[in-house]
Amino acid sequence: MLSQLLHLQGIESVVIENRSRQYVEERVRAGVLEQGTVDLMNEMGVGERMKREGLVHYGIELRFHGRGHRIDFKELTGKGITIYSQHEVVKDLTNARLAAGGQILFEVEEVSVGDLDDIHPKILYQKDGRAYELTCDFIAGCDGFHGICRPSVPAGILTEYERVYPFGWLGILAEAPPSSSELIYTYHDRGFALLSMRTERISRLYLQCKPDEDIGRWSDDEIWNELHTRLASDGWTLTEGPVLQKGVTGMRSFVVEPMQYGRLFLAGDSAHIVPPTGAKGLNLAIADVRVLARALAGFYANKRQDLLNQYSQTCLRRVWKVQRFSWWMTSMLHRFPDENPFDRHRQLAELDYVTSSRAASQSLAENYVGLPMEW
Ligand code: DHB
Repeated sequence: MLSQLLHLQGIESVVIENRSRQYVEERVRAGVLEQGTVDLMNEMGVGERMKREGLVHYGIELRFHGRGHRIDFKELTGKGITIYSQHEVVKDLTNARLAAGGQILFEVEEVSVGDLDDIHPKILYQKDGRAYELTCDFIAGCDGFHGICRPSVPAGILTEYERVYPFGWLGILAEAPPSSSELIYTYHDRGFALLSMRTERISRLYLQCKPDEDIGRWSDDEIWNELHTRLASDGWTLTEGPVLQKGVTGMRSFVVEPMQYGRLFLAGDSAHIVPPTGAKGLNLAIADVRVLARALAGFYANKRQDLLNQYSQTCLRRVWKVQRFSWWMTSMLHRFPDENPFDRHRQLAELDYVTSSRAASQSLAENYVGLPMEW
């Protein structure tokens, strides 16, 4: 996304990816695009397939005590979200970059970055057994939580803030038509469950599980039984189908400050992780690179330094608000191993409040469809 945004401003970039094209185009991730993400894809001319294949939703359901309560995004915010998989976004952007002659190097190895506080930082890497050195004006560290960019910042510069949750999500992709036209977030005595979807024929479902759950210990039947139990509601049935893929995701909240050192700018998961509840990860990464692309455009067009200097501060205002929302959704909907009866009543009161107060449901809705860009 950053590479394409820069290209549209006439700024050249090279994307360095250690995985194969097939891997990044098939890796299953979340699939909820905020309205702002959708608008940006369209403005950039990469939204055609998303417009055809994406499912536009104007609400979600919160289910507890076996009853559903709809949060009506359209009425509360005038906006909606689009269900379109992250790997489909990756495919569309990759195609657009390559069609425009952009450089994406896949399956690159032994990557390191250096001279970060010089005006020409460097990226060292190997490809097909040969070593290369790329001299840059800037490096964008878009290499995820486990990437090499953040650890390349000298000690003592970055402050880390972190919370690890005592549970994970067991997720399946199933060849079954979604049992609801909108997403269902469920709070149940046995733990959280989520019904989501990818297309009109493919469902995506999640169950709260232990953080180190061994997926091999869950048969498909056991997964379906647990989903039936947690999602149960009068007059509603969950449609089953063959399980196409399954896995366990850990949950953590993480922020690093600042998101910049010298001419290295961290964006997306390399700078922050949100727990998955609310599906903010991709959307937040896109907000970062919008800020970065604008700052770099100002630098190249008018020699502006101010937008680059403000990059971290500008991004972090949104990052912390999205952290708050993802933490809040997670805290409201999951069972905690150390909770006491007071905590349980408070969670249920929160759900009751958020589904009965217009002010509270509007707050959820405006965060879910995506906060406006502030820059
Ligand atoms: C999905 C993931 C989420 O974390 C979420 O809140 C909603 C949907 C998904 O994968 O479809």
